[in-house]
Amino acid sequence: MKGNQEIKKQLEEIPFELKRRLRIFDRGSAPYIEVDGRQMINLTSNNYLSLATDPLVIEGAVAAVKEDGAGAGSSRLIAGTSARITLLESKLAELKNTERALVTTSGFTAALSAIVALVGRSDGIVIEKSSHACLISGARLSGSKTIFFRKNNLEGLTRALKKLRDRSKRLLIILDGVHSMDGDIAPLPEILNIAEEFDSFLLVDDAHGTGTLGPNGEGIFAHFGIKPSEYVIQMGTLSKALGSQGGFLAADKAIIDLFIQKSPAFIYTTGLNPAAVGAANAALDILAKNNERVVNLRRNISAFCKKIGIQTSKTPIIPIVIGGEKETIELSNKLEAAGCLTLPIRPPTVPKGTSRLRLSVQSGHRLFVETSEHASEERYLVLLRSRTAE
Ligand SMILES: Cc1ncc(COP(=O)(O)O)c(C=O)c1O
Repeated sequence: MKGNQEIKKQLEEIPFELKRRLRIFDRGSAPYIEVDGRQMINLTSNNYLSLATDPLVIEGAVAAVKEDGAGAGSSRLIAGTSARITLLESKLAELKNTERALVTTSGFTAALSAIVALVGRSDGIVIEKSSHACLISGARLSGSKTIFFRKNNLEGLTRALKKLRDRSKRLLIILDGVHSMDGDIAPLPEILNIAEEFDSFLLVDDAHGTGTLGPNGEGIFAHFGIKPSEYVIQMGTLSKALGSQGGFLAADKAIIDLFIQKSPAFIYTTGLNPAAVGAANAALDILAKNNERVVNLRRNISAFCKKIGIQTSKTPIIPIVIGGEKETIELSNKLEAAGCLTLPIRPPTVPKGTSRLRLSVQSGHRLFVETSEHASEERYLVLLRSRTAE
C-alpha cells in the first residue's frame, strides 16, 4: 500500500468516538452564541473574562492594525519588534511581578522557546505527567533526561529530582499552574520549596491562571501571595482570559535575555501580529483599571457550581468526568439540544476512561445575576445536576 492509500486507511481506523472534527462557529468565544439559528450558553471557550468580544479590546486591535499594518513582516530580531510589543511586555512584566517579559506568537511556542533555551542534553527535566502538550513537546525537543511525576505527588517529584541531580548540570521542574483539564491549582508553595532544595529552575504554565487567579487576575503567584524568585519562569498565553492571541514568558532579565539569544521558536518566526498585540494591550488596560471582571467571574463560578450541585471551584474550569467516550458525546449532544454548548474531551487529551465535559465559565455569563425564578430549572442545568448527583 502506498502514500495516500495508507493514510486513508490510517484515518479510517480511528474510531468514530475518537475522531476529531472541525466545527464552524460564529463568535465561538462569546459567552452566548447562536448555533444553527439557536441561542445557547457557551461553556466551551477559554475567554474567561469575556474580553475577546469586548468593544475596547476590538478597538485596540483595529487601532494597532491601522497604525502598524496587518502583519509584523519579519521576526522579532529583524523588524518585528514594535513599540506596542515592548509596551505589552512591560505590562506583562508588571502583572507577573518580574523584571521582564517576552511576547511570543503563541503559548505553545512560548513553552518550546523557554524549555529548549534553558536545558539540553546535559540537563534534567522533571515534568508533571498530564501537563499540557506544549510542555511535553518542549521537554522532548530539548533532548534533556526527562522523568515524569504524577500531579500533586510531591514525593514522586522529589524522588525524580534526586535521581537526576548528579547526572544533570541544570534541573528544571515543569508543570501547569492551573491544570488545563482538571481545573485544580498546583500546590505552588510546596513545589517552590522542593525546587529551592534541589537548586532547580521552575517553569509554571499559567495559561489558565492568568486573568483568573490573584486579586487582579495576576495569576498563580499572586494567588499564593508569592514573589517569583530568580529561578522561576512564568509562561502564559494571551489567547485565553486576555481574549487575544499569542504567548509570553515572564522572568528575571538574564533568563529572558537567554531566551532571546537561544530559542529557535522565538528567533525564527515572524513577530506577533499587530492586531493581537493591540488587543492584548487593551485587555491588560481593562484589567489594570479594576477587578470587576475577575470578581464577576468568581461570582459566576460559585453560582454555576451551586446550580449544578457541586462544591464551588477556585478556577473557571469545571470538569464533569463521564468515563467512556460514547457516553460523553451523548451527554454533550443532549446538552446542546437543551441550549448549552459543551465539547466532549476524549483520549489522548485525557487518559482513557476519563472522558469528560470540560466546562468553562466566563465573567460575561449571566449566572449570578439571573433574576428569573425559572433560570435554575433550565433543562441543561437539570441534565448536568443529574450527572453530578451520580
Ligand atoms: C495549559 C496550556 N498551556 C499552553 C497552551 C497553549 O497556548 P496557545 O493557545 O496560546 O498556544 C494552552 C492552550 O491551548 C494550555 O491550555
